[in-house]
Amino acid sequence: MTVKYTPLKDHDTPIKVLFTGYLCTVGIGYFFALMQILFTHGMADGKFGLSVDDIVYSYYGNRSGTVMENQLNGAMKANASAQERFDIIEWVRNGADEDDYKDDGIEKIIEERCVMCHNEAASGLPNFKDFKQLKALTAEDKGATFASLTRVSHIHLFGISFIFMFVGLIFSFAETTTTQYKCIAIGMPYAFLIADILSWWLTKIHPMFAWLVIFAGMGMGISFMFMWVTSILEMWLYKPVFVNGIGTRYLQWRDSEDASSVDKLWLFAKSLAAQAKPAAAYLSDLWLAHAWPLVKGLFKK
Ligand code: HEC
Repeated sequence: MTVKYTPLKDHDTPIKVLFTGYLCTVGIGYFFALMQILFTHGMADGKFGLSVDDIVYSYYGNRSGTVMENQLNGAMKANASAQERFDIIEWVRNGADEDDYKDDGIEKIIEERCVMCHNEAASGLPNFKDFKQLKALTAEDKGATFASLTRVSHIHLFGISFIFMFVGLIFSFAETTTTQYKCIAIGMPYAFLIADILSWWLTKIHPMFAWLVIFAGMGMGISFMFMWVTSILEMWLYKPVFVNGIGTRYLQWRDSEDASSVDKLWLFAKSLAAQAKPAAAYLSDLWLAHAWPLVKGLFKK
């Protein structure tokens, strides 16, 4: 195979430094993103660590309670004492009346414990100095709102596609991975990104889709790690790893007959894909011949 690009290990050092700087920064960013997920979604069910319940509560909502109550038992648990949280929850359950708000001392708790974060200066957080905004959170917990999903969806699609643009571009100069696996590793994050965003909306509609959120997120993470590690190794550790180290075994395996038996799976997938076109044509024939007249008939009535 003739190589039509400069392999990563042969790039000039300044370019390697640039690539490495970018990869490391984005890698740290990914780490903080995971921490952020742990601290927000991860706490949704009140227990540390990410679970399917967390995802369901975040997007579909925990419909057995109000937003305020669920937050006080979940992510906001550490912000007030048990007694204070109990008082607020009791007030919410009794109808969150505006007169009781002052009389029961709830206003004082909120001012002491919550307003330092929940004020007009904090963008994106409800302002608890405004009773209306507080009251709105005492309704049934229906998870993420469509407004917030729209906001987060477009930010994620634009932002993350850029990250994978550059990570993929750097990785495309790798030489230890075969072209077909490179295509998979580079294309996968985009497919998973779209699946991830779509799965938020689907989970908002039905909690069953929470597993898709986790699956898509993991797919994105795996392809990111694979591209990241391969690129860094090839740039700086090509010789110790791929010429003298464990990587030689990998290269032997890749170029051996065994590898082609693994690739049978790939060939199988290809032959399936080749069937897709005639299958689609057959289905569209069926649709035009049988289903379409039926649908047309329905509309005429
Ligand atoms: C240290 C800052 C901080 C304090 C103190 C704090 N909160 Fe929060 N609160 C946040 C942040 C940040 C979020 C958004 C979390 C997220 O996006 O998941 C939030 C979210 C919430 C939400 C969900 C809002 C929504 O739109 O769904 C409720 C309800 C809430 N807090 C109630 C409280 C109450 C009640 C208190 C006081 C006992 C309190 N918070 C104290 C930072 C704080």
